[in-house]
Amino acid sequence: MDKQSQPKSLMQTFEANRVIISFKDLPAQWLPLVERANDAMRTSYAPYSKFQVGAALLLDNDQIVLGSNQENAAYPLCMCAERVALYTANVIAHNIEVKAIAITAKSDKAKSDKPVSPCGACRQVLYEREVVQKSEIALLCGYQDGPFVLFNSISEVLPLAFGPDALL
Ligand code: THU
Repeated sequence: MDKQSQPKSLMQTFEANRVIISFKDLPAQWLPLVERANDAMRTSYAPYSKFQVGAALLLDNDQIVLGSNQENAAYPLCMCAERVALYTANVIAHNIEVKAIAITAKSDKAKSDKPVSPCGACRQVLYEREVVQKSEIALLCGYQDGPFVLFNSISEVLPLAFGPDALL
């Protein structure tokens, strides 16, 4: 059944299950991480898309590791903020558990009435981290001033994921 022909009530239920949070209603424990994600976002190199993204990881040792998207004239080489942060974390704080990630974005063109969420590739990489560390990574994402959406685990945004278990 395509989206158009789905009963309207079904679509509304799907939307309603997800709580959308405005900046002023952010849970207090998320505020510092969101602010750091916004700091990271300002280090984005995005001359082509002009879509700036920042990511802030909270590690188990309370360290915060930042990442921002880095683009290149050879477009396929562009790297997302989330992966810059995750890969950096595993170098500067090797094997330290990731507890949470805040992702924020800014774009003049994008619609900001709906939270922006991580791309499929970043979900896959975040998911693998969750599997390897055997604990969930909480995820909060949205535009720099909101609205945001909160997930308790990466598994929630990547159902039926392909992961290391399939290969080991
Ligand atoms: N981007 C991210 O940094 N993270 C995502 O999850 C989605 C997309 C970046 C990549 C590219 O530099 C720009 O946003 C537009 O796709």
